[in-house]
Amino acid sequence: MAKAEINKAYLSRPDNHDLDHIDGTDGIPYFGESLKSIWGMEDLLKSHAEKWGNVSRVKILHQRGILVLGVDNYQKIYLDKDKNFSTEMGFAESLGQFYNGGILMKDFADHKFLRRMMQGAFKNAAMKNYVAMMNPVIEAHLETWDKIDNFQFFPEIKKALLEVGAKVFIGVELGDEADQINQAFQDINDGLLGQVRKEWPGTKYGKAKKAERYLHDYFSQEIDKRRRGDGVDMLSLMCREIDDDGNFFAKELIIPQASFLLFAAHDTTTSVLNHMTYYTAMHPQWQEKMREECLALGKNQIDYEDLEKMNVVDNVFHESLRLRPSVAFVARRTINACEIDGVQVPADTMVFLSPIMNHRDPQFWSDPETFDPNRFLPERAEHKGHSFAYHPFGGGAHKCIGMHFAVMLSKTFMHQMLIKYDYSLPTNFKTRFEWVPLPKPAKLPIKWQRRT
Ligand code: HEM
Repeated sequence: MAKAEINKAYLSRPDNHDLDHIDGTDGIPYFGESLKSIWGMEDLLKSHAEKWGNVSRVKILHQRGILVLGVDNYQKIYLDKDKNFSTEMGFAESLGQFYNGGILMKDFADHKFLRRMMQGAFKNAAMKNYVAMMNPVIEAHLETWDKIDNFQFFPEIKKALLEVGAKVFIGVELGDEADQINQAFQDINDGLLGQVRKEWPGTKYGKAKKAERYLHDYFSQEIDKRRRGDGVDMLSLMCREIDDDGNFFAKELIIPQASFLLFAAHDTTTSVLNHMTYYTAMHPQWQEKMREECLALGKNQIDYEDLEKMNVVDNVFHESLRLRPSVAFVARRTINACEIDGVQVPADTMVFLSPIMNHRDPQFWSDPETFDPNRFLPERAEHKGHSFAYHPFGGGAHKCIGMHFAVMLSKTFMHQMLIKYDYSLPTNFKTRFEWVPLPKPAKLPIKWQRRT
């Protein structure tokens, strides 16, 4: 018997705000606890856990919902055996404003269909080409870094990764077209943070909506061209992917994925590279260990096959993501009333999840606040203490499709940076860490010492 189709009525219902029976706080008027989350996400989560346990009422990102903590609760929600958690409605008021139709904003069968459409672009054969495409872009950027006055890592890595994105995701070369696409993409990101959600002249939201239409038109015009061509960038591969009946996937399905992929890949990898650089500038012994491993490969640009030989860089990547996960919050919305950790949660309630507490839970991690990449070695494998002790890439049906791409990009980048430069931070350097809009050290004034 065919599985019963899920009743989609939940997609047109408003959020439930009737949550007074759940302990917690609405924070300060208008902002809720959003401001606290910018610098002190850990403290916010910790204080909820201490005062109210694993399930508490919260108001964040202008939405009243519940904050859920605890590895077992995460396993239930992410794996969602009862089909009771909607990502589409979880993100409708945030990412859905600009990336409507993107794969993360689709549930169940609709989501599975899109995942099928995108999988070819993430297979090994495709990845091999991506490494070759990104290497020269990274090299050109790194070449200039020791000549930049008052160098700060964030703006420079952002520029470099925007160019990597234009080339690998969309297949455009440097120039006006790439600049326009990158500008549109950045306008949308600014729009996501805009307080006024009106298309009035001058508002970030208005600018972002214009950018969204630009990208839609651009991708829409490109699709036929890409189908006729032989491009090996992600967009071209998706355009030439065929469904089980031998037909191309519909344009209207491809367009939102192209924009969303740029978004999903960009800030996340920017964030992790900021942290890898910060931690290994602060702990030069780890920088040296990574460098030895990279030099042992004996080449200026790595190939796909080299990735599996880079175990030290791999462990530094994961340790950086453990302490400072690039995606600090994800959202779901309940479809039916349910019980979470003994608390009755009504239908249509926003549910917020964060990996931060699980990533520092002393039940699984020894000395959790310390930067210690060796905890990922096979003989310690602290990340395997529970399937949700370490989950920077999420879990279940929506688990990050770009996880291997992120590792590949980070290794390709670190390899070139390590063989070209020794890097350091000023003596007694201290910085605050931001969580919003993307996790990163507030400042990272890296000093470069050229090796080659
Ligand atoms: C360090 C880098 C990255 C981190 C930490 C990360 C994290 C995540 C997380 C937590 C999710 C699940 C969100 C949820 O369940 O609500 C996700 C989904 C996703 N990520 Fe990533 N991501 C990274 C890099 C990338 C890259 C490089 C790409 C593309 C090349 C990508 C594409 C996606 C897509 C398309 C989804 C949605 C998957 C689906 O709904 O089936 N991500 N990512």
